[in-house]
Amino acid sequence: MAKPKVFATHGLFEPARQILEESCDVEYWAQAERPPRPELMQRVKDKEGLVCLLTEKVSEELLRGAPNLRIAANVAVGFDNIDVAACTKRGVVATNTPGVLDETTADFAWTLMMAVARRLGEGEALARSGIWQGWNLDQLVGTDVWGKALGIVGFGRIGRAMARRASGFQMKVIYTDAVRAPEAVEKELKAEFREMNALLADSDFVSVHVPLLPETRGLFDASKFYRMKPTAFLINTSRGPVVNEAALVAVLEAGKIAGAGLDVYENEPFIHPGLRRANVVLAPHLASASLETRTKMACMAAQNVVALFSGQRPPNVLNPEVLQES
Ligand code: DGY
Repeated sequence: MAKPKVFATHGLFEPARQILEESCDVEYWAQAERPPRPELMQRVKDKEGLVCLLTEKVSEELLRGAPNLRIAANVAVGFDNIDVAACTKRGVVATNTPGVLDETTADFAWTLMMAVARRLGEGEALARSGIWQGWNLDQLVGTDVWGKALGIVGFGRIGRAMARRASGFQMKVIYTDAVRAPEAVEKELKAEFREMNALLADSDFVSVHVPLLPETRGLFDASKFYRMKPTAFLINTSRGPVVNEAALVAVLEAGKIAGAGLDVYENEPFIHPGLRRANVVLAPHLASASLETRTKMACMAAQNVVALFSGQRPPNVLNPEVLQES
C-alpha cells in the first residue's frame, strides 16, 4: 500500500525524520528561509499530512487548496497559526507539542529576567567593545533578582515551572490565572493567587505565560503597565500580541516601568524600533531553542502524524471532534 504523503515545512531533526519516514512518504522543505506562501500552498496541495512550524498559517485558504489533508501537526505548543475551527470543519486533525518545552522555556524566561535585571546586554556590549576601562563601583549596577516578588501571569505548565525555579532565589511567588490552581499546587510551589491588578502592583518581575487567545490579545496595554511598579520589569516568552508594543514603548520611554525582557513580538520578525533600548533585552523567539527540546518537539509532531495514519488517536489532538466523527 502506498504510504501517505506528508509535507514537512522544515528538514526537522534526524530522530523525527526516522519516525515519519517509517510510515510516510515525506517531502521536506530544505531551504533555510521559511517557505513562501505560494510554495507552501503548492507543496501541500496533494498531501495527506502537514508538519509545520508556527511561521506557517494553516488557514481556511490553505485547507481549501489541500483537499486530501488529514492532519496538520504543529511543531510548537502555541497554535495561534492554526485555524483550528477551519481544520475541524474540513475534518483535518490539528495537533501541537505540549509538555516537552516547559522547563526549557522557563529557563529562558529566567535568562531574560536575569539579563535585564543585571544589565547583561549592556555589560556584554561593553566587554566586547574594547573600550572597557576596568572595574568601577557604580558601573552598570542593576537590580537584584533574589528575594524579590515574581508575578506569574498564566499558571499553566510553563508558569509553574517558572515558580519552581523561584525558590532557589528566595523569591515571593504570586500568580494570576483565569482558573485558580489547586491548593496542593499553590502549597507545593509556595505561590499565592492574586487578581491581575493586585499582582501587577506587587510584582518586581511580571512574567507572562498565557496562550494567545482573543481574550489575551493586547492583554498588556497602557492600563496594565501603569499599575506596575516603576521599578518592575516585564518578561514575555509567550506570544508577542499579548503585549501592545506601542504601549510598552511609551511606558518605557516615560520611565513608568524599569525595563523588559522579550522573546516574542507583535509582528514577528519585525521588532518595534522603540524596543531597541538599553533597558530592554531582546531575543529572537528562542525560549524553547535547546537541541534536546527542539528535537523532542519535532519527534512529537512526527508521532502525531504517524499515529493518525496507523489508525490510532494522535496523542496531542487539538480538535478531538474530528476523530469522534470519523
Ligand atoms: C511554542 O512552542 O509555541 C513556542 O513559541 C516555540 O517553541
